[in-house]
Amino acid sequence: MKFFVDTAIAEEIRELNDYGLLDGVTTNPSLIAKSGRDFKEVVAEICAIVDGPVSAEVAATDFDGMMVEARILSALAANVVVKLPLTLDGLKACRALSTEGIHTNVTLCFSANQALLAAKAGASYISPFIGRLDDINLDGMALIHEIRAIYDNYGFETEILAASIRSANHVKEAALAGADVATIPPAVIRGLAQHPLTDKGLDQFIKDWTSTGQSIR
Ligand code: E4P
Repeated sequence: MKFFVDTAIAEEIRELNDYGLLDGVTTNPSLIAKSGRDFKEVVAEICAIVDGPVSAEVAATDFDGMMVEARILSALAANVVVKLPLTLDGLKACRALSTEGIHTNVTLCFSANQALLAAKAGASYISPFIGRLDDINLDGMALIHEIRAIYDNYGFETEILAASIRSANHVKEAALAGADVATIPPAVIRGLAQHPLTDKGLDQFIKDWTSTGQSIR
């Protein structure tokens, strides 16, 4: 499973990229607002840090407006993926951009039928929002399973990008469900490496090693 980081904070992206853990980045208007940065400037900076796809979302909600913004965003860097909302106009823009060879990420997906439409529109990625479904007492992970089954039934190549991930357990469950990608907040990515028994075991190994008085160097 590929790991994208879900943030527009360039410093955090740089740090995780240095660990070799990143395959790409997703941003959204809320994350851009949180960064306090100029949208196009920060997207260009992120695209220079990470080799993989960087999702940048249009702000327009009508087809013509989305197409204008999509062209501006995709001109920022070769690895920009244009993020479009899962609306009829968004799907129309997805089809037009996909036909031109521009990569797309259809976002705000909350149902299997929406995901089916995005695949039919030629989306490169579909973003089902797990956490936001869990927030309203629905089963976000069940949606990933449904989309996986439908895409496999018909051989759709749209990649399932599990989004709105809130916990390490979400990452594990999305991997088990066959999501192609998970976009994960930075703190959750760092938390994946943590286990109390790892810390305890390492403390003991260091203590025992020190007692030998040896040095590897
Ligand atoms: C990513 O593409 C989504 O915009 C993001 O994962 C949404 O996460 P949230 O529901 O935690 O805001």
